[in-house]
Amino acid sequence: MAGPYFKSVVEEVRKIFPDGGTILEFGVSRGGSFSYLANQIKSDWPCKLIGFDSFQGLPKETEGVWYPERHSEGRYCSPLELTISTIKSFGITLPDERFELVPGWFKDSLTEERRKDIKNLIFVNVDVDLYNSTIELLNFIRPLLQKGTLIYFDDWKDPKDKFDGKWGEHLAFERWSAKNPEIKFRQFSVDDRDHQRTLEVVDIKHKMIKNIRHTGIVVKNLEESLRFYQLLGFTIYQRAKESVDFISKISDKEGIVLNTVKLLAPNNSMMELLDYGKDKMQTERTMFETGMAHIAFTVEDLEEVYNRLKEKGIYFNSSPQISPNRYAKVVFCRAPEGTFIELVEVL
Ligand SMILES: C[S@@+](CC[C@H](N)C(=O)[O-])C[C@H]1O[C@@H](n2cnc3c(N)ncnc32)[C@H](O)[C@@H]1O
Repeated sequence: MAGPYFKSVVEEVRKIFPDGGTILEFGVSRGGSFSYLANQIKSDWPCKLIGFDSFQGLPKETEGVWYPERHSEGRYCSPLELTISTIKSFGITLPDERFELVPGWFKDSLTEERRKDIKNLIFVNVDVDLYNSTIELLNFIRPLLQKGTLIYFDDWKDPKDKFDGKWGEHLAFERWSAKNPEIKFRQFSVDDRDHQRTLEVVDIKHKMIKNIRHTGIVVKNLEESLRFYQLLGFTIYQRAKESVDFISKISDKEGIVLNTVKLLAPNNSMMELLDYGKDKMQTERTMFETGMAHIAFTVEDLEEVYNRLKEKGIYFNSSPQISPNRYAKVVFCRAPEGTFIELVEVL
């Protein structure tokens, strides 16, 4: 349900992030708060809203961290079709690329794959009531959190409960936060009964590395390698003649001349081709040398890619082979500068 405090928080989020971002809702049920958010987005707020719910009601709760009699298994059950028709009555018709409902238990639906598609998380509506569900969703959003992300908890403290300790969403957050001290929160606001609370991420120190940024490949012939990687589906992101002073400094070698081309894969991951001109060394690598050995790319249809590259004269170690566990089809080829490229089709 979208009560007055929830609405006031959404208004604040809208003021802070007028250019939008992603909003996640955990606990959609019949879609009250989902419809409210979706209608805000419809009125000229460029956000993507994704709602997660089992659409089978609450799961069984762990003893001791909430009251089973108030949060029994199956409570708030609203089958997906019912939710879709309810939100339609609030003016939101699906499908709409701005809004998405993801059915399933969090343990199944909150996947790495799903997380990869979520960018610029600005607001999270936590309305799952339960301890374990809150832990699951917090673990899911952890890598997506950024300075300024606001998290609204719908059930921080419930005045109907006599127990005055911490429980449910509140207890889950406190325990989770203690395990994730690199993320600092502040209380953004609270409703007058402390039933609902909104927290803001004020600082976040990602653990050492955040991601793999790019793979650098020293080439023999820049244009020839470019043709090869473009053939594979990379596109040119940026060409640069690097500053001699800067490159010499970071390479610990005087007078380095370097031309680079940054390439983007279809999922935006990056590779960098480096042409060191006169300074390059013309040694041939084998696959068995110690150190970085190869780069693997995922492809849709390995036979087709194999045939197309073969036609262009690319050298392959073998024809495509199916792995013994039948998980994937695999083949190795060699890029023009000698880099070993593994092409994988997941079966
Ligand atoms: C209180 S209701 C949500 C109410 C909703 N925000 C509204 O405005 O009406 C809580 C919802 O959380 C969902 N939920 C709780 N834990 C879950 C889990 N582990 N996996 C999937 N859904 C869960 C339940 O299915 C239930 O629909």
